[in-house]
Amino acid sequence: MSERFFAAQPSPEEIRRRMMGYTSWLEINLDNIEFNLRNIRERVGVEVMPVVKNNAYGHGLVPIVAYLETQGVAWVMVAKLREAEMIKEAGFETEVLNMDVLFAGEQYRGVVEKGITQTVYTLEAAERLNKAAEELGREAQVFVKVDTGLNRVGVRHTEAAALIEEINGLPGVKVRGMFSTFQQRPEEDRVALRRLLAVDEELRSRGVKVEYRSMSSSDGVFHNPDGWLDVVRPGISLYGVYPEPKDEASGLKLRQALQLKARVEYVKWVEEGESVTYWGRFVAPKRMRVGTLHLGFYDGIPREMANKGKVLVDGQIKQSLGSVSLNHYLVDLTGVKAEKGTEVTVIAEEGENSLYKTAETAGWMTYSLLNHLNPLMPRVYFRDEEPVALLEP
Ligand SMILES: Cc1ncc(COP(=O)(O)O)c(C=O)c1O
Repeated sequence: MSERFFAAQPSPEEIRRRMMGYTSWLEINLDNIEFNLRNIRERVGVEVMPVVKNNAYGHGLVPIVAYLETQGVAWVMVAKLREAEMIKEAGFETEVLNMDVLFAGEQYRGVVEKGITQTVYTLEAAERLNKAAEELGREAQVFVKVDTGLNRVGVRHTEAAALIEEINGLPGVKVRGMFSTFQQRPEEDRVALRRLLAVDEELRSRGVKVEYRSMSSSDGVFHNPDGWLDVVRPGISLYGVYPEPKDEASGLKLRQALQLKARVEYVKWVEEGESVTYWGRFVAPKRMRVGTLHLGFYDGIPREMANKGKVLVDGQIKQSLGSVSLNHYLVDLTGVKAEKGTEVTVIAEEGENSLYKTAETAGWMTYSLLNHLNPLMPRVYFRDEEPVALLEP
């Protein structure tokens, strides 16, 4: 299916033509995702289940899953049922683990019908899946979420073996795996791992073997080899972003995949002493050439970037000016070659306005910055510097 996805895309020339009309867009370097996936795989030596929730951390769900499928990825993980449905509707063979909770009867039927693997941690949910499976003459697949100390969701580790055994006994349900989430605190994480392994041991003593045991997200991939088990679940690292400097120091080499670009919408001269945009937060200290970009906090630019943002234009880093509007972002264009339509890199792959640096400037987590990118912005996917796919929501 993934080959068909890429074969059905417009030609590189057509994609470049359409890009000329974009006011703001994201460019995703698939070679960097390949680099990250390869390095994660080599590091852990076990199966990798990329986390593609939240629109693949802003990178665009369907093209990213298509690409991962070309790289031999067998499983992906989502947080919303709708995302799981979109992957199945696109016809991918990749197995999808859905973390979303189900409330309505038709949702239980839907996941069984579509072959989505469902996260469960109560007998009630498993029984509802079992009923749907029996009605449809199909088998429901589940991963059981075990709470090993995070106290968010999941069956308490002390009760997990009994629940998994019971679910496994339901005729229409197959337990494919069990997973848990670390707190990302070394001491507590050692305890959490012991708890999950104890569940596994108890299950084995009762004659139940669970195919996949999983504990690690990116933090575990960086720092906790004991927690790799049968499958790891990296999100942010797959997209080439280190949440913190200690993560880069772990030695795992990553390359940021995403760039945010915009075209200059309007250029004007502002006189010394004049302010720009709301509340007069920037007053020109001299006559300045000011450009307006057509993107703002609707698109994910933090409002904390007021007067602090850095963009790359005509090979130079220039400063943002004044407050960030919902749909406008003002930048200093004094001394650079830029007109209406000139391309500006708002978030670059590296350097002073990398995603990490931009988040740091705003006082945001890298996670927040990635996960607030407007899903309606077009996404363009590159391989060997050629545009190979397009997402125009
Ligand atoms: C259960 C689970 N596993 C894995 C991940 C991926 O986390 P990260 O992006 O830190 O790798 C997440 C994301 O929050 C998650 O909820």
